[in-house]
Amino acid sequence: MATVTWTERDIPDQTGRLAIVTGATSGLGYETARALAQSGATVVLAVRDVDKGARASQRISQQAPGATLEVMRLDLASLDSVQSFAHEMVRRDRPIDLLVNNAGVMAVPTRQLTQDGFELQFGTNHLGHFALTAGLLPLLRRGRSARVVSVSSLVHKWAKINWGDLQRERAYRPMSAYGQSKLAVLLFAKELQRRSVLHGWGLMSNAAHPGFARTGLQTVGPNLGREDKGKSTQGGYALISFLSQDAASGALPTLFAATSPDAQGGGYYGPDGRFELKGTPRRAKIARQGRADQDAARLWALSEAVTQVTWS
Ligand SMILES: NC(=O)c1ccc[n+]([C@@H]2O[C@H](COP(=O)([O-])OP(=O)(O)OC[C@H]3O[C@@H](n4cnc5c(N)ncnc54)[C@H](OP(=O)(O)O)[C@@H]3O)[C@@H](O)[C@H]2O)c1
Repeated sequence: MATVTWTERDIPDQTGRLAIVTGATSGLGYETARALAQSGATVVLAVRDVDKGARASQRISQQAPGATLEVMRLDLASLDSVQSFAHEMVRRDRPIDLLVNNAGVMAVPTRQLTQDGFELQFGTNHLGHFALTAGLLPLLRRGRSARVVSVSSLVHKWAKINWGDLQRERAYRPMSAYGQSKLAVLLFAKELQRRSVLHGWGLMSNAAHPGFARTGLQTVGPNLGREDKGKSTQGGYALISFLSQDAASGALPTLFAATSPDAQGGGYYGPDGRFELKGTPRRAKIARQGRADQDAARLWALSEAVTQVTWS
């Protein structure tokens, strides 16, 4: 891959392509949806709060006049909601060219559960997207050079899958549970690519991370269940803000993975700066545990079992 700076101007024309972006209300998802819309794609903003989604859609319309946008409800912390979303898309029968599995929560302070009883971060960040991708597979298979981009994180490097306690029932630590979910996302992206090649699904699966981007992530998740909204995190955030980049820059690795002719199936893209915290998109480093093919297959089987989704 070239080392020259890659910007939104390098996104190929997306006219005629249908893209779905999860968590498009704010942060990286918003910027991803905005840039895709400005490049001509029809974009579905898949969001858990449709009023917030409508406001995001209005803002994007102002930045991308004439863009074709739709807001649809999707709560990744509910398999019923994921299934309803996928069923509606299948009912419409329009092939999907791009799915960006972006939504996420981070460092939820106390162990909380999804509607189906999964630990919230593992359930939302990984299992929800796992079930969503399975549900949309028939449409992705009919997409034009379809891609699935999954948003992981630098923290996967310090994470491990706790096979004996996937749902963190015995010991819950917020960042450890988040790290597991983001490692799971990365393993999922790689296994999806492997299976796509094996079964001839015809879609490209890759992954990206934004480095450290200034979004709601550092305050939203950690504040779930807390009253002192943001006080402690904002202090720390100010101290390290010089290491970070804005949300639009943080979305570039995702956009590269989603649209660049140089992006590859099974690839992982992140910023090229020091410690991959900020910079222009390039191939990112994957820690050993993110390259463990057997773990990826094992996680897939476990995810199928607990979500009861089928890949056909
Ligand atoms: N920012 C960083 O430095 C960083 C670093 C590494 C990885 N990431 C990853 O980047 C992705 C985007 O995060 P961000 O930084 O842009 O944070 P953000 O601004 O907080 O955005 C998170 C998005 O996820 C949505 N979301 C949360 N739970 C959901 C659910 N159950 N169903 C549907 N949508 C849900 C949120 O919706 P609401 O608006 O309704 O809350 C919001 O749109 C995440 O996967 C995160 O792990 C971010």
